[in-house]
Amino acid sequence: MTIDEFDERLPSLMHAYVAEQIRARNWASADADELAQLEQRRLLPRGLATPGMRWYVARTPSDQVVGYLWLATEPSDPRGGGAWIYAIEVEPEWRGRGVGHRLLSAAEVEVRRLGATSIALNVFGENRVARHLYESSGYEVTSLQMRKSLT
Ligand SMILES: CC(C)(COP(=O)(O)OP(=O)(O)OC[C@H]1O[C@@H](n2cnc3c(N)ncnc32)[C@H](O)[C@@H]1OP(=O)(O)O)[C@@H](O)C(=O)NCCC(=O)NCCS
Repeated sequence: MTIDEFDERLPSLMHAYVAEQIRARNWASADADELAQLEQRRLLPRGLATPGMRWYVARTPSDQVVGYLWLATEPSDPRGGGAWIYAIEVEPEWRGRGVGHRLLSAAEVEVRRLGATSIALNVFGENRVARHLYESSGYEVTSLQMRKSLT
C-alpha cells in the first residue's frame, strides 16, 4: 500500500471498526470518535511506518484497488507470536467475487514468509459474511463472547 492509499483509506477503515464496536455494543456511540482516535494513536503511532504493522491492497490486472488488508506481525506480541488481521475490507461493488478469499490466501503466504505460524483475528457475531469467509478458509473459533439483552 502506498502512503497516499493509506491516508485515503485509514479514515474509512477506522470508521468501519468503530461502527462494528458500536454495533457489538462494546462502545457507546457518543464515545466512538474519541475512542477511535485513541486506538489509532495506540496501534499506529507512526502511521503506515509503524513497526510490525503491514498494509496490503488487492488490485485488478488493470490496477484498480478493490480490497485492503491490515496485518500485524510482531514476534513479541502477547498473543503468541502469530500474525493478527486487524482489518480486511473489499470495495462494496467487488464483494462476493472471491477477493476476500484471495486476500486471506495472500496473507497466509506473507505470514509464512515472515516466519509466523498462525493467523488470528476478531470478528463480530453479527458479521455473517465475514464469519463464513473465515470458516470456509479454515479459521476456527478460539473464544466466544455471549450477551443476553435484558431490555
Ligand atoms: C467480509 C468481506 C471482506 C468478504 O469479502 P468478499 O470479497 O465479499 O468475500 P468472497 O467473495 O471471497 O466470499 C467469501 C465467502 O462468503 C460468501 N459471501 C460473500 N458475500 C456474501 C453475501 N452477501 N451473502 C452470503 N455469502 C456471501 C461467498 O459466497 C464465499 O463463500 P465460500 O467461502 O463458501 O466460497 C467483505 O464482505 C467486506 O469487505 N465486508 C465489510 C468489511 C468487513 O466486514 N470486514 C471483516 C471484518 S472482521
